[in-house]
Amino acid sequence: MQIIDKPTTGFTGVGDVPTDERGSDELWFLDMLEPRGAAPLARVTVVGCGHVGLVVAAGLAGLGHDVTGLDISEGLVKELTTGQVRILEPSLTPLVRRGLDAGNLRFTTDYSGALDGAEFVFLAVDTPQTLAGAADMRNLRAASRQIASLLDGRNPIIVNKSTSPIGTGETIEAIIGAFLQEDHAAPRIVSNPEFLQQGRAVEDFFRPDRIVVGARDPKDARAVADLYAGLSGDVMVTDLRTSEMIKYVANAFLATRVSFINEIARLCEQIGVNVDRVVDGVALDERIGRHFFRAGIGYGGSCLPKDVAALRYIGQIHGVSTPVLSGVQEINNAQKAEAVSRIRRRLGTLDGQVIGVLGLTFKGATEDIRESPAMDVVALLRNEGASVQIFDPAVKPDRSDLPSGLRGTITGSAIEAAAGADALAILTDWAEFRDLPLAAIRSVMRGNVVFDGRNMLDLKAVEAEGFAYLGIGRIATKHRRRRSDA
Ligand SMILES: NC(=O)c1ccc[n+]([C@@H]2O[C@H](COP(=O)([O-])OP(=O)(O)OC[C@H]3O[C@@H](n4cnc5c(N)ncnc54)[C@H](O)[C@@H]3O)[C@@H](O)[C@H]2O)c1
Repeated sequence: MQIIDKPTTGFTGVGDVPTDERGSDELWFLDMLEPRGAAPLARVTVVGCGHVGLVVAAGLAGLGHDVTGLDISEGLVKELTTGQVRILEPSLTPLVRRGLDAGNLRFTTDYSGALDGAEFVFLAVDTPQTLAGAADMRNLRAASRQIASLLDGRNPIIVNKSTSPIGTGETIEAIIGAFLQEDHAAPRIVSNPEFLQQGRAVEDFFRPDRIVVGARDPKDARAVADLYAGLSGDVMVTDLRTSEMIKYVANAFLATRVSFINEIARLCEQIGVNVDRVVDGVALDERIGRHFFRAGIGYGGSCLPKDVAALRYIGQIHGVSTPVLSGVQEINNAQKAEAVSRIRRRLGTLDGQVIGVLGLTFKGATEDIRESPAMDVVALLRNEGASVQIFDPAVKPDRSDLPSGLRGTITGSAIEAAAGADALAILTDWAEFRDLPLAAIRSVMRGNVVFDGRNMLDLKAVEAEGFAYLGIGRIATKHRRRRSDA
């Protein structure tokens, strides 16, 4: 029997960064493929070459299929054609280059050429959140219409990978159906939701927990499942709507876990127990586990916030109230305001204070700042008059999606971010922040406050360097007997 008497450190917050020890740019997973059996290789077009579409296109090419990636962004296609990958994703660049070199992966902006001979057309365009919370379907509809108008008598299987409302399969069916010729009366639409996590997307593609395929005709679903022959992972065949619902429920449940433990963290602080140790004890239960179960400043990214909002919206239009989802959103929003309040309470005011910020991306191991809680916290800090000095391993000042006001605040290292700061705030769970040079950081700071918004640091080590520690549901030693730390 193992005695667990120390806090465990194996997992980070909202997303689990890759734990695999293998090199991040190696294609080791290609050696682990199972034989394809009788499953044929196919000609596939992937529409949308962003975070999902590019991984799917390169992954399917890695499995041997002949793949064309199509995107409306000329700049993106130009880069991809020369093997340049703008997103940070372990193993993705070599996988793309392997496909380009082998000649079974190419990129284009030309719909007509891309559809020529395609047996499967994947839709992987973005479906962002609208103001009302619904998923924005304009890109998906536009892509479907464009495909439909170019079918010219062909009837490829259209595979929807974009996360989109329940009933989207039928919407695409209607769009395609309007253009099909009489001898192909029934469009062949398959829902194949994507479950990859940014930061470990290639690994997730080659080692999926499950592959969900939903269709009106199970034969079409199986044909799509066959594309993945060689991968381990269970295949689940459903109808269209069930498949679409599975994706939303999976993301909403992950978000629920994060908000649940953040609510519990607040309670832990008042009671005077350390939430991390509580998680350790609870997560040992096989029914519960650790993933997405760590207190912090909340979930973010381009998926969880919008998918929770979209599921709530779906509830509204069907007259079903969703109080759990409302609570999940409420807690998540409050985490960011609470982070700022804590730093303010400790410093007295934020006006005129310098805050060193570590992390801007929505989680570690990705370059993505979309819906990042760190971005929100930075905005709130600045709104109260603080100036920020930011370091993020994946964010350089010249990034096109960085708000112009932040460009001058980006520094090149944690030490530079901390220089002269009154407080240091860790806002993203980059693995390297676990090993910060604490003594050096302390020596360059003006103040001694460290806000650990991802509960990453070793509390004792931080306090040993003379920092005043603020975590989420973690009790600093000198405050352990008090009801609140700030
Ligand atoms: N990012 C994730 O981790 C993740 C995981 C699972 C599912 N999803 C879902 O996958 C979908 C895509 O997400 P993403 O993160 O890859 O988005 P993204 O913004 O990174 O990429 C979308 C791409 O689609 C292109 N595009 C838009 N309209 C187009 C059109 N009409 N024709 C051709 N290309 C077009 C854009 O130029 C862009 O390159 C979304 O529905 C998302 O919810 C995302």
